[in-house]
Amino acid sequence: MLNELALTVNQWALKNVGREWIDYFASNTMNLGTKRLAPFFWTYDCQAKIVNIRHETHDTMTLELLPNQHFAQAQAGQYIEITVTIDGIKHTRCYSLSHLHRDTVAVTIKRKEGGLVSNWLFKHAQRGMCLPISYPQGRFVYQGQKSILLISAGSGITPCYALLNQLLAEKKTVDVALIAQFKTTEDVIFADALNAAATKCTVYLPLTRVDIKADVISQIEQHPELLERDIYLCGPAGFMDKVVAYLESKNYDLSRLAIERFNFDENIDLGEQCLSEIYFQSHNTTVKMNEADKGKTLLEIAEAHGIELEHGCRTGMCGSCKCRLVQGEVTGNKLGVAVYPCTAYPASSKVVIG
Ligand code: FES
Repeated sequence: MLNELALTVNQWALKNVGREWIDYFASNTMNLGTKRLAPFFWTYDCQAKIVNIRHETHDTMTLELLPNQHFAQAQAGQYIEITVTIDGIKHTRCYSLSHLHRDTVAVTIKRKEGGLVSNWLFKHAQRGMCLPISYPQGRFVYQGQKSILLISAGSGITPCYALLNQLLAEKKTVDVALIAQFKTTEDVIFADALNAAATKCTVYLPLTRVDIKADVISQIEQHPELLERDIYLCGPAGFMDKVVAYLESKNYDLSRLAIERFNFDENIDLGEQCLSEIYFQSHNTTVKMNEADKGKTLLEIAEAHGIELEHGCRTGMCGSCKCRLVQGEVTGNKLGVAVYPCTAYPASSKVVIG
């Protein structure tokens, strides 16, 4: 009851007073009393309350979140980090935004087998619950192209769906096509909305692995003109690797490809690592690895030798460290010639990073 009342007051304040005024007022009246009385606003932390929970499929649910005054304006295609505390230990996971409204944003979460945070949220999330969140992050955002193709598999649909909604809602003249692949028709997330969107743009849906002729690649083979578009790709690592390899085989210009990774294989066997010579083109500097650099990521090696590479999450999620592999080989987090130094390792005697 009290929880519900607090949520109503929070919603009213954010809608009618606005984030800027709340921020001004709360920061000027911050003390132990106000912090205890209304910890949602009287805090320096970015946090959000759950205002709605919607089950999309048997293993996905959407949490609509009301962020407090510290949240920044989000863009479709970005993601946020959500932190939960389980048995006294904090766990943080990244989730793409699936909806953006005036006062709220939403994330759509897939329940993973053995997934600690997703299973916890499925069990414990409830209206009014307050969760620490991060600012919106990521570069999987619309770049102003005239015609784009969104490609997704499974829960990779979430940022693509947000982009699709943004472009359709803003009535931009961009020509949008979407190919979404799911395991079975029961797994199709946002099925009704995507079917409705198909009346306004080109949507190939549903594509299931059950119908082997209907996967993403065969769909593009049937419509080769789709490759004239700029592509936004999101899905599991294996799926993305396959699509990127296919695009490379078609000589598709990978600089026109935007990707959003949810995961990649973190159990990388580095084997007998050699002491590579790594040339960082952006800094015009060559690093000769020493014994202490073995087992370090490209980002860690660069830092150990005084080179500051642009980066964000350091976990392979945000894409801010993305570079181009010009020469040599790397293992770990890479897609075609795109390399993510925070989670990639040198794997040949000479490596050139552009
Ligand atoms: S992907 Fe975020 S820093 Fe590398």
